[in-house]
Amino acid sequence: MADRVTIVEVGPRDGLQNEQQVVPAAEKIELIRRLAACGLPVVEATSFVSPKWVPQLADAAEVMAGIDPDTPARHPVLVPNMKGLERAVAAGATEVAVFAAASESFSRRNTNCSIDESLERLRPVIATAADAGHRVRGYISCVLGCPYEGEISPAAVVAVAEALYSAGCDEISLGDTIGIGTPHAARTLLRDCAGSVPMERLAVHFHDTWGQALANILACVEEGVRIADSSVAGLGGCPYARGATGNVATEDVVYLLHGLGLETGVDLEALARTGDWISTRLNRDNNSRAGRALLAR
Ligand code: HMG
Ligand code: MG
Repeated sequence: MADRVTIVEVGPRDGLQNEQQVVPAAEKIELIRRLAACGLPVVEATSFVSPKWVPQLADAAEVMAGIDPDTPARHPVLVPNMKGLERAVAAGATEVAVFAAASESFSRRNTNCSIDESLERLRPVIATAADAGHRVRGYISCVLGCPYEGEISPAAVVAVAEALYSAGCDEISLGDTIGIGTPHAARTLLRDCAGSVPMERLAVHFHDTWGQALANILACVEEGVRIADSSVAGLGGCPYARGATGNVATEDVVYLLHGLGLETGVDLEALARTGDWISTRLNRDNNSRAGRALLAR
């Protein structure tokens, strides 16, 4: 079997959480349906955080209710605490993602507590979800830099990765929240993390603010990672990282990986049409270079 990379599509969550306009639930549901139909194996659907903090995703339960029960994809959702987990499970989620940060300042801005407090808060959430048979992903933000503190030491990232993994997370996603990392730093960090968490349990999550995301993914794939997060049409940002742009575009990642001879299971043309559809619906530029090139042919 050819070597395969699992793409985790985060557009409906990481993308839409940062849209100024309110996207109706029906449109979110249609986006999720189209993404799953493209062959994406994992489409993160929404987020059960406080609606005061992220009003864009206040309709999380409605979105979950609209997901096709026969969807071919997995649909994890973000949960920040026990209340979020309870809401997510009540809405039918079977897979969740918790999130912490490698930077103290970002942790406070994003979750209103220190790194240690957030890990304390997350431990029972992870254990409860895992005991109920739910798969749990753990995100770490600011792994290659922080909007408030600047440089972040790889040791700080490894410590959080170890804590989340030993708490029971199945997978750890390393988030370059502000898209500032470069390939050598990304590769070195991945290698450091792989000293504590098995490589097959690590994912990379690059925002593309500085235009380095594809180069970083290439470096990390060469280093051995086989899970990469991305967002259709490059949707997204982070409400608590001012100036951070969207995730690397899924279309661009798929084009890169197929060019390397790696399988993704994704139909690139269908994905490009989906990226174009959502960009038009949101009245925004399509940030996928590969998507635009493909549709211009
Ligand atoms: P807090 O204000 O400290 O929480 O927020 P609290 O426990 O004191 O509760 C305050 C109020 O919120 C209460 O309501 C709670 O019931 C309610 P009140 O009594 O005032 O009416 N509340 C909730 N309501 C619904 N669902 C919940 C929930 N929890 C509390 N789950 C908290 C702490 C963590 C909740 C808040 O800071 C929060 O929701 N933060 C989320 C921020 C966020 O979503 N950021 C974006 C996602 S992370 C990201 O994008 C990074 C990533 O992409 C990787 C990368 O790129 O780096 C993953
Ligand atoms: Mg993100």
